[in-house]
Amino acid sequence: MTSIETAIGAARAARSSRRAISLAERMPSRSEADVARAIRLSQGIPARYARGTLSDFAPAAVERVATWAASSKWCLYMAGGVGTRKSSLAAAIVMAARLGGHRSMFAPMDVAIKQIRSFHDWWIEQAGECELLVLDDLGAARDTPHVHETLNRILLGRYDRELATVLTSNLPLATLRTEYDERLADRIREGYHLCPGQASRRVAGEEKPQIDPNGS
Ligand SMILES: Nc1ncnc2c1ncn2[C@@H]1O[C@H](COP(=O)(O)OP(=O)(O)OP(=O)(O)O)[C@@H](O)[C@H]1O
Ligand SMILES: [Mg+2]
Repeated sequence: MTSIETAIGAARAARSSRRAISLAERMPSRSEADVARAIRLSQGIPARYARGTLSDFAPAAVERVATWAASSKWCLYMAGGVGTRKSSLAAAIVMAARLGGHRSMFAPMDVAIKQIRSFHDWWIEQAGECELLVLDDLGAARDTPHVHETLNRILLGRYDRELATVLTSNLPLATLRTEYDERLADRIREGYHLCPGQASRRVAGEEKPQIDPNGS
């Protein structure tokens, strides 16, 4: 059994006050039904990230994600420099959770801001109630006081109800506290923290390497 399978098995077996999120691996697509299923699973995830799976990441990183998924900690906060694969990992978590049958939402911050403006009640319902919410790039896009208040209400509500939430950001928690929101930062402090690698993985198109299964 690989360490990824072990980690996923641990997540499944775990018992916590919050319903554990079980993380499954994506099957390679072959038939039309598989393709349709893959499209459904990737809903809301930008195309660049929808092709990745947890197996693209270092087993140690996946084990930490699985530890969080099986825990009662409400959020996984991934803070790090640009290009350190935070969005890629967050998308792979959503795909794995959807395969595990969990209603999950992936919301890049700029999309969330637009959707809150245009589909306010729908967005609150979706983001507030889903089993797993990913907010990608917290603190990166400018939000109005109304959008900020809405997002905060959703996140503080998820904190109160211990609903699984993944937040990615370029801001270390101390900066998020001073530059974004002190109350939210205080709740995130109680979460699980994962800091990806230091170097950007963005490279010039032609030199772009294949996905490195051992990359962190
Ligand atoms: N294993 C890999 N090998 C090479 N490139 C990769 C790998 N995984 C992801 N990438 C690429 O690395 C780039 C950076 O990944 P990603 O966008 O997830 O980083 P990020 O931490 O979210 O960046 P930002 O802070 O700017 O939002 C992307 O172009 C992605 O396609
Ligand atoms: Mg990103």
